[in-house]
Amino acid sequence: MSSLPRKKDSEYLLTKKQAQQKIVALTCYDYPTALLEEQAGVDILFVGDSVGTNILGYQDETEVTMEDIVHHLKAVRRGANQSYILADLPYASYETPQQALDNARILLSHGADGIKLEGVREEVVKYLIEHNVEVSGHLGLLPQTHHKKVVQGKNFEQAKELIQGAATLEQLGIFMLVLELIPEELGQIITQNSRVPTIGIGSGRFTDGQVLIVNDILGITPFKLRLAKKYQDYQTLTLDTIKQYKEEVEQEVFPSEDNVRHMAETELQQLITWMNNKIG
Ligand code: KIV
Repeated sequence: MSSLPRKKDSEYLLTKKQAQQKIVALTCYDYPTALLEEQAGVDILFVGDSVGTNILGYQDETEVTMEDIVHHLKAVRRGANQSYILADLPYASYETPQQALDNARILLSHGADGIKLEGVREEVVKYLIEHNVEVSGHLGLLPQTHHKKVVQGKNFEQAKELIQGAATLEQLGIFMLVLELIPEELGQIITQNSRVPTIGIGSGRFTDGQVLIVNDILGITPFKLRLAKKYQDYQTLTLDTIKQYKEEVEQEVFPSEDNVRHMAETELQQLITWMNNKIG
């Protein structure tokens, strides 16, 4: 499969959907990880409000502020200047169309290429798009309001509502739609009926792309989630490394001769003589 040229614009994502090439997205919260995600060829770096529970030790997404997103967004942009960066409008930052636009402009001015907001907020979405902001929708589980992480759209009524919501957002002009924690069948139906790319998280195999929380794939998250795959055991690696460092410092194994610098013998002698004279 030939890969399409990478571009830092949303048209590229649409081209990938049309070419039936999967879109790869991953959350990103810091500079070193941004460097690696870009190097690995991730299509979209999400500076999501998942930063709150994954990095900042918050209880849930409602604690995340605009300042938090901006702080992490700036670091990610410093590390990834070629990639599409999608930033979340955090909880309560898009209560009115004007508030949403003001906050979206702040995110765009700090390196975001587009913004994402949760739910079907018609007036807000319309206003942002009229003002040339690239908006991604987010349906299914909405972490800013659904505090129980349960699968959404499992019955006919809920599924119908999600399909209608996706169609409304598409008509308003979103460039992409994130589908979180919905049944695979529903993910497939929405994707087949959507002209814009769908990106799933816990929404099955048939969305146009996938996004995961970087902490989950690296094994920083201490538990295993069904929706994610743990490719690395960072927790164990890091804990073992820190324990080994502690032991070596305590046992005086570190630093060793390899880690130290010395003075020239003549300089040292001069210094010792000077010290002795000073004391005597
Ligand atoms: O907050 C976030 O990072 C997200 C994605 C995981 C979908 O919204």
